[in-house]
Amino acid sequence: MLKMTGICKAYRTEVLEIFALRDLSIHVRESEFIAVTGPSGCGKTAFLMIAGMLDSFNEGEYELDGVNVYRMNDRERSWLRNEKIGFVFQSFNLLNDLKHDLGVSMVFISHDLAVVRYIADSIVVLRHGVVAETGSAESVYNDPQAEYTKKLLAAAPGPRLGRDPTNSLVFQRGG
Ligand SMILES: Nc1ncnc2c1ncn2[C@@H]1O[C@H](COP(=O)(O)OP(=O)(O)OP(=O)(O)O)[C@@H](O)[C@H]1O
Ligand SMILES: [Mg+2]
Repeated sequence: MLKMTGICKAYRTEVLEIFALRDLSIHVRESEFIAVTGPSGCGKTAFLMIAGMLDSFNEGEYELDGVNVYRMNDRERSWLRNEKIGFVFQSFNLLNDLKHDLGVSMVFISHDLAVVRYIADSIVVLRHGVVAETGSAESVYNDPQAEYTKKLLAAAPGPRLGRDPTNSLVFQRGG
């Protein structure tokens, strides 16, 4: 569905060049919920802007439903965005219904690994624009391989998400 390969995004000024994303490859399949997570500055927004076709990239390939985004002009890109992409801010409790009822795929952007675990099938942990670790939500959360992920998990803040009797996501105290 959404396939990025080797994406690089650099912000250039007269004196310096900042790489927001380096060689980023992400594949989201139909009905898959994937989370992109990591601390401030790791490249989440840079990724989101490219995924939503709101910003350009310097290197790599981006395919959306088999269409090569890079080769499109602005009008074609706007049309594709309109047809294929939706942005949802914060109201994530109903998103699982969309997945089951409509088969939509979702990329969930958050710095909170604890929240991400309950929503996503798989997790991509970004560090300085590079994928530090990726895998199923359960494996990344319960058996993190990268030291960086372990540190992020240890630093994850208080409230945890759970499910109420209607299967909606709710915050739980403690944990
Ligand atoms: N317009 C810009 N010009 C120069 N550098 C930028 C610009 N926008 C982002 N960056 C840099 O790119 C990197 C990635 O930034 P990005 O905004 O994607 O991080 P983020 O993960 O979304 O952070 P946050 O959690 O704070 O939203 C950072 O080093 C940031 O300083
Ligand atoms: Mg951001």
